[in-house]
Amino acid sequence: MRLARFLAAAGVASRRKAEECIRQGRVSVNGQVVTRVATEVDPGRDRVTLDGRPLQPERRLYVMLNKPAGYVSTVHDPQGRPTVLDLLPDLGVRLFPVGRLDLDTEGLLLLTNDGGFSQRVAHPRHQTGKVYEALVQGRVDGDGLQRLLRGVMVEGTLARAERARIVARQGENTVLEICLHEGRKRQVRRMCAAIGHPVLRLRRTAVGPLTLGGLRPGEYRLLSEEEVESLLQGRRRPSRPSGRRRPAR
Ligand code: URA
Repeated sequence: MRLARFLAAAGVASRRKAEECIRQGRVSVNGQVVTRVATEVDPGRDRVTLDGRPLQPERRLYVMLNKPAGYVSTVHDPQGRPTVLDLLPDLGVRLFPVGRLDLDTEGLLLLTNDGGFSQRVAHPRHQTGKVYEALVQGRVDGDGLQRLLRGVMVEGTLARAERARIVARQGENTVLEICLHEGRKRQVRRMCAAIGHPVLRLRRTAVGPLTLGGLRPGEYRLLSEEEVESLLQGRRRPSRPSGRRRPAR
């Protein structure tokens, strides 16, 4: 592992700041000052210090949360609203959400302390499919579905669903399942509004190969190594259904 990455993983600083620390001669590996940014270290064997202080890389955690409505997907909210982190116990690392769900959107949200993983999963270039179940106003017909699949204009650019189907009718309303590879702000809500069927309720049910399974709103669970790997590789793996409740505080 690159030394700067090790320092970042140890929670010292961002990768760029870590490189500065190395250049400034503040970092030692096995007692030797190292100033070459490209130095490789073995986190299991090498002894790394910053300003003489020994460092341990922070363990990587990957969490799946079934986000209820009413929580913001940020680490801190300047308006003081509850955040998704309020739903988790202290797991000993600084987690942040992978991408965003709107305040009122429910469902599958991943959190991690691994920046590389987050970029890989959230970036549209990597085409991680995200599946949403949307209760929309009115009766969507085949034409409406085709418009979602062909693409609708959202803020001057074309937004397109990879897949879209009608799951159920609820009185005068329709439940749609929509799969996106993009992740623009309020994309599902805007696309449905553009075809004349505003969203009444929105839930994300899958990210890549992972599904919510039996996880109930407000519950979380840790991802297994295989699940993390399957997201990074874009491979299909079944999701484990069991969930954990946040311990009472
Ligand atoms: N699309 C939306 O409109 N909202 C979300 O939270 C996620 C996708």
